[in-house]
Amino acid sequence: MKQKEKSDFRYNTGDSKVPWDAVGVKPDVDLSMDILRFLVTAGEDSAAYEAGMAQVRKTLEQVFKTGSPATKLSLGKKVKEVEELTKTMLNVKYASFLTSWTAGYDIALDMAGVGPGDEVIIPAITFIATASPVLRKGAKVVFADVQRETVNMDPADVARKITAKTKAIVPVHIGGYPVDMDPILKLAREKGIVVIEDAAHAFGGTYKGRSLGTVGDFGAFSFHEVKNITSLGEGGLLVTNDPLGEQFAKARFCGFDLTMPPPETWLYNVSPVRSRDGIFAAGNFSTTEIQALALSRQMHQNAAIIEQRRAVAARLHAAFINEPGLIPGPMNSADFGATFHLFLLRVNEQIQGGIQAMKKELSDLGITQIPHFCPLYHYNIFEAFGYDKEAIRATCPNAETAFFKEYTHLPLYGLSEEQIEYLIASVLQAARKLRKK
Ligand SMILES: Cc1ncc(COP(=O)(O)O)c(C=O)c1O
Repeated sequence: MKQKEKSDFRYNTGDSKVPWDAVGVKPDVDLSMDILRFLVTAGEDSAAYEAGMAQVRKTLEQVFKTGSPATKLSLGKKVKEVEELTKTMLNVKYASFLTSWTAGYDIALDMAGVGPGDEVIIPAITFIATASPVLRKGAKVVFADVQRETVNMDPADVARKITAKTKAIVPVHIGGYPVDMDPILKLAREKGIVVIEDAAHAFGGTYKGRSLGTVGDFGAFSFHEVKNITSLGEGGLLVTNDPLGEQFAKARFCGFDLTMPPPETWLYNVSPVRSRDGIFAAGNFSTTEIQALALSRQMHQNAAIIEQRRAVAARLHAAFINEPGLIPGPMNSADFGATFHLFLLRVNEQIQGGIQAMKKELSDLGITQIPHFCPLYHYNIFEAFGYDKEAIRATCPNAETAFFKEYTHLPLYGLSEEQIEYLIASVLQAARKLRKK
């Protein structure tokens, strides 16, 4: 018989006749069936589906009789495995599997010591999650303009926007296209500023041979359901080589501290988490074993998924590069390893009506686009927090031009041969129709 595993520190009562897991409910056949029914819906073929389900149920009943149900559903061996795998795959010292990218960013901002009176520079074009945690810390968001070629943060504008109050810079590898990190790191090192990479789209991408997310001081990835790989809907990883990473377990779960003796008659102590210049109280961003199981499987598939994406991107690039008016996003080189989460398509002034007209033509042809990332200062929340939209806008001319006139993102994964051909033909047809004569 398998030796009973000792449980984790939260319920570290060891082997006993009345075990610690007697405090919680365990998975059973019904729950397993509900999960399967959720993951694989009936569709139209419901008679065959129900027959299949009945068969699965019978088998499951047998399996549950012979095996014992899982007793550890959160922060167990699978979570550890995902973290170990991450360290090996990305060649990084510390990794923590969390509920979301935003959870990782929250911890990184705390570790960087970001608080009231500090400034954090983010690109104008990104997802709102790059900004709102900064507001929640009581700090100020400073918007850097972007480079029109990649829609990524422009290091030259970052240099202009650094002040004595700048605590962190957050490059975002938007769509999985790497930011030019060297000039940003140089600026940050000169001024003692922390660099937190928003690598939400970039797990498995590289910059000059290094894994994205490990180039700056901290890096966070998202495994939300619309990313290249997912931990069943939500999830994130935070990585670092900074010694502060030793405290990731504590920062993820309420400050539980096993290195300190617990108070008399209790199981554990709780202590604050150290930041660059002080301490903070931890939140709870714990993940489940089932999320970890899903993620670890997909992490093993990640390289193949990126390769499939790259191959489709290469075809789109080849089809558009010589078409007047169209500018496809950059392809990979030794120093630039994109994950092609999205395909960047730009148009120039030869296209009548710019990207807005192009988007309309493509929508009419049934081509989905993802015009998701707008200059964030257009959202109401910033005005409500006292930001002067027009003043910020005037400092981000490329973001304005890129979003309103030049770029869109196209999806490119899992398309059939027919869909790829149709996508290419539609973009070319729209460009030819709209091109100025
Ligand atoms: C650029 C970017 N940053 C951060 C996030 C937030 O990730 P999560 O939903 O895992 O918190 C997203 C999610 O779409 C994103 O696109």
